[in-house]
Amino acid sequence: MPSSDSRQGHHHQRVPSAAVHASVRLGLLGCGTVGSAFVRLIHEQQDYIEARTGCRVEVGRVAVQNANRDRGVDLPADVFTTDVARVVDAPDIDVVVEVMGGIEPARSLVLDAVKAGKPIVTANKELLANVGAEVFAAAEAAGVDLLFEAAVAGGIPLVRPLRESLLGEPIHRVMGIVNGTTNYILTRMTEAGVDYATALAEAQSLGYAEADPTADVEGYDAGAKCAILASIAFGARVVAGDVYHEGISAIAAADIGYATRKDLVVKLLAVAEREPNESGAGRTPVIGVRVHPAMLPTTHPLAAVRESFNAVFVEGAAVGDLMFYGRGAGGEPTASAVLGDVIDAAVNLRKGSHATVGTLGEATIKPIDELVTAYYIRLEVVDRPGVLARVAGIFGSNQVSISSMEQHGRGEEATLMFITHEAREHDVQATLGALRELDVVHRVGSVIRVLEGDL
Ligand SMILES: NC(=O)c1ccc[n+]([C@@H]2O[C@H](COP(=O)([O-])OP(=O)(O)OC[C@H]3O[C@@H](n4cnc5c(N)ncnc54)[C@H](OP(=O)(O)O)[C@@H]3O)[C@@H](O)[C@H]2O)c1
Repeated sequence: MPSSDSRQGHHHQRVPSAAVHASVRLGLLGCGTVGSAFVRLIHEQQDYIEARTGCRVEVGRVAVQNANRDRGVDLPADVFTTDVARVVDAPDIDVVVEVMGGIEPARSLVLDAVKAGKPIVTANKELLANVGAEVFAAAEAAGVDLLFEAAVAGGIPLVRPLRESLLGEPIHRVMGIVNGTTNYILTRMTEAGVDYATALAEAQSLGYAEADPTADVEGYDAGAKCAILASIAFGARVVAGDVYHEGISAIAAADIGYATRKDLVVKLLAVAEREPNESGAGRTPVIGVRVHPAMLPTTHPLAAVRESFNAVFVEGAAVGDLMFYGRGAGGEPTASAVLGDVIDAAVNLRKGSHATVGTLGEATIKPIDELVTAYYIRLEVVDRPGVLARVAGIFGSNQVSISSMEQHGRGEEATLMFITHEAREHDVQATLGALRELDVVHRVGSVIRVLEGDL
């Protein structure tokens, strides 16, 4: 009588574990800009991947909203479906690639796939920046991969270096240009001297900016990426809502001109920093997360990042400074990052292992009020003797000291441009409040943080 043991033995002999997933079938959720570029890339690289890894990755099913649309991909029509369950629950799908975007239904679908034991690869920053802790915990509990290299800085390998190569590194700051649209606009304002509206229209005609550019130009997109970067760099739960953000839509040609004269350049930065002396075991780390325009010295490596390129600067205690540079968006670069994760997931699946994000602990978010940095401030004032003294008096009475000042007259009006010494955000806001009350101040034009002393 054959025992169950001998049957099991027979099973193992017939299907050695190394061959179980020799062919890995992918189920895609979405086939838009990223998904269709991914399908094309996989077809191009399929044989090479198989030769290098012994895994053949194949697109088995693709869930979309409109199954009849031509997507310029070489797949049989019956691969497309509008029934998402045929991707997340189907036994013939091994790995789920979520490239549809948004929080729901992406969240529920990812959780369903995890429950069904399927590894997930996602490019969805919104999902991770809002409900990342929940989906990471679910993947960890189920023992499956949840990989997301494409969710931050598109094609730039950044997530894997942070969560693997730099896992033991005491990182104190991650600072980057993580939105190509705004970097393109700021580059054009700096190099061609055009104003914000002109640069935005140019970015829209080139396809770098959407018809409604709010998510990019007001810093929401960069804020989501900042939250993900902080989570993986510091191993802490940081969500999009924790990130202080300002956009670039109020930046004027005059501000860019001033920066250029001072050998500074304006960039929209995402900054995640951990307070010193709080990293001891058992202590809740204090983390500052913010997105805002900043003036940087032209000698800083991030200042050289032009047009729609992205770059992330990582500062570690042991490794020193690192910079990751490349294409932060676009179908092909993003598909490249997705494919790297898919290969990892396929190989892990075959080995019966999975990657881990590690436990994300609690974090205390440092209020923006406590930030200490230098500031550039532009004021439109009445051009009259004594005005400068009154303005300077307000700075002084709020403990904000002035490092340099420029004055330009324009008929009845004058523009005053200041750079302060390092000051507390709280004191600078109090200064601005008092300046707005002053009858000789028409308006506070721009306020841009200057990162110089603390770099
Ligand atoms: N584009 C980039 O450069 C870039 C860079 C980095 C990360 N990402 C991220 O990658 C993801 C995808 O971006 P994308 O630019 O490729 O978006 P996209 O072009 O709008 O494509 C979205 C795809 O998802 C499908 N879809 C949407 N809702 C669905 C639903 N409820 N059920 C089934 N299918 C649904 C759409 O189907 P239909 O085609 O039938 O409408 C479409 O194929 C997003 O999370 C985005 O943030 C994009």
